[in-house]
Amino acid sequence: MPTPDTTLICVTGGAGFIGSHTVGNLLERGLRVVVLDDFSTGKRENLATWLDHPDLEIIETDVSDGLFAPLAPVVTRRGPVHGIIHLAAQTSVIRSMEKPLTDVRANYTSTVQVIEYARVEAVDKVVFTSSSAIYGDVTDLPVTEAAPPTPMSPYGVHKRASELHLQYGSQVLGLSTTALRLFNVYGPRQDPSSPYSGVISIFLERSLRGEDIVIFGDGGQTRDFVFVGDVAWALTTACLNDKVTDKVSGLIANIGTGHAITINDLAAQCIACCDATVRVDHHPERPGEIRDSVADITRAHKTLGFQPQTTIEEGLRLTADWYRGQ
Ligand code: UD1
Repeated sequence: MPTPDTTLICVTGGAGFIGSHTVGNLLERGLRVVVLDDFSTGKRENLATWLDHPDLEIIETDVSDGLFAPLAPVVTRRGPVHGIIHLAAQTSVIRSMEKPLTDVRANYTSTVQVIEYARVEAVDKVVFTSSSAIYGDVTDLPVTEAAPPTPMSPYGVHKRASELHLQYGSQVLGLSTTALRLFNVYGPRQDPSSPYSGVISIFLERSLRGEDIVIFGDGGQTRDFVFVGDVAWALTTACLNDKVTDKVSGLIANIGTGHAITINDLAAQCIACCDATVRVDHHPERPGEIRDSVADITRAHKTLGFQPQTTIEEGLRLTADWYRGQ
């Protein structure tokens, strides 16, 4: 890739929760950024800090319709796109089961469109946000990338299909691609407003409002919660690998912390972090959900130098502080 100040990175879903942190990280590293977002869940406020930044352009579009038309005027003004970080997605596992056809468009067609643009326009690098949901219910934990993918939801199936399309892109089309399998991401700007929202955003928001918390199932299920700042670092680092010296082409790597926490413990920590006194109710478990999930992050550490910097205590505090300020 050329020097940072002339390098243009396209972030699909850049106005979303993880996307906006990724955009911030890229701008801080001195790169130029174009965001493609349909604002179905993304928000301009998420990019408020950088709205007047001369190196940021924001275009409202659905990437499932293609990237050529929305990017053409940007390329005329600023030159070619060097990298694409593809985050535009439907993020709820449960919603994918209710609306599988909507999910295939948001979580698979969009990836095919990204690869098609990268193929025709010879983009140096494509980074895709895959998910731990592709593993399904594994018993051998922490899970490594060698575990056979057995997704239990359309969401997981479409994330895996996207990974395979990236593999086709690198092996057959000669593109440089990386897929990062994100575990449970949390942090400031995660939207708590829907029942499908990430559990930490819901628990913190409800604790701060003094509203009771609902745990689905017995609460003994585990997740690996990784702070959004660490995820943004991994995504941009994967993207900025030079094509010539690229050590991560075709790479698939887990991005988590390597630490599991039960949903019961998480609820207790969220309540304590907010100094709240709220009740915890248990409802029947949600069908199709995996029981346990924790990442082996050895591969990301070896290839990208990934080492999560934010502990769950610190991350919950930063996130709760952000919700307090809303
Ligand atoms: C999450 C992500 C998904 C990502 C996956 C990676 C969200 C919305 N989904 O799915 O994009 O690919 O991690 O593993 O961030 N729960 C409660 N009470 C609540 C809400 C949730 O007990 O009010 C429980 C759920 O039943 C589940 C756990 O918390 O056992 C985590 O749920 P959730 O935050 O929705 O994430 P995942 O389904 O793991």
